[in-house]
Amino acid sequence: MFDWEAAWHAALYGPAGFFTRGEKPAAHFRTSPLVGPELAEALLTLLSRVDAALGCPPVVDFVDVGAGGGELASAVRSLASGSLGARLRVTAVELGPPVDLPGVRWSSTIPRCEGLLVGHEWLDAIPCPVVRGPSSDPWITRWWPSLGDGWAEVGTPRDTAWAAAVGSVRGAALAIDYGHLVSSRHFSLTGYRDGRQVEPVFDGSCDITAHVALDACADAAGGDFVLVSQRDALAALGLSSEVTGSGWEWLESAARAGRVAELRDPLGLGGFGWLLHGCGVPVSALLPSLPPWRPNPASHSVV
Ligand SMILES: C[S@@+](CC[C@H](N)C(=O)[O-])C[C@H]1O[C@@H](n2cnc3c(N)ncnc32)[C@H](O)[C@@H]1O
Repeated sequence: MFDWEAAWHAALYGPAGFFTRGEKPAAHFRTSPLVGPELAEALLTLLSRVDAALGCPPVVDFVDVGAGGGELASAVRSLASGSLGARLRVTAVELGPPVDLPGVRWSSTIPRCEGLLVGHEWLDAIPCPVVRGPSSDPWITRWWPSLGDGWAEVGTPRDTAWAAAVGSVRGAALAIDYGHLVSSRHFSLTGYRDGRQVEPVFDGSCDITAHVALDACADAAGGDFVLVSQRDALAALGLSSEVTGSGWEWLESAARAGRVAELRDPLGLGGFGWLLHGCGVPVSALLPSLPPWRPNPASHSVV
């Protein structure tokens, strides 16, 4: 029988795998950290709330798991200032080759974190078994009961990885990704190469990804969590697309408003889920009450 998980793993993380050999997302698809510094700004606001709830420890961590080219880690490092900036330690966790960025340390494993751990489009890059129904797999029985005779990605490896990541944190852990819920599952295995969605071939020539069962990940990690949309979370963290000023100031503010609108587009990046766990910190100290996430089946990697 074909071992989908092993083939997917070899294609991305084997000796000649897509990510192992140093392919970076920026060359193949567009993610929120690549839009501009605004996601990092919002995450710094979240980190400052985590820091306050932890009582401002001497060292506060920002850990970026599945950091790719390190754009998010680097932007957080360069935007942080004041007391938080002086105490901030930024770690990029990545299986592919590190990138030399000032103030960012690289690791291939997740360190213990006192602060904020973020997995931005990390979970969708974790290989899974693939099954054709009907299936007696316990994960499918619980999390994909509507499967029938179709195909499905079994989310167990992502649940396990997310639970371990959340378990390494004091503060908060945030997964940002495209995905689905038990009420909206659909088979979504696909590939990306050079800015195009392509057939998912397991030869290392393309990224291979599938939507994340964020409800199952939340349940596996447990504790205090919320699952909301990027669109709502960014507004709650103060990002606005208001255009102000005149002359150059107006132009800069209009460009920024365009980037914020892209990050909040409900049919694109704004439709991504934000799964936020409080780890010894109540989630209510970090975000106000927001509507639950309703995934948009069309939203996937943005090319
Ligand atoms: C889709 S890319 C996202 C990159 C970046 N976060 C962004 O949004 O632009 C996923 C990244 O996760 C990395 N990755 C996957 N599993 C990992 C693991 N267990 N530890 C560290 N990095 C991992 C891959 O090598 C890849 O660079």
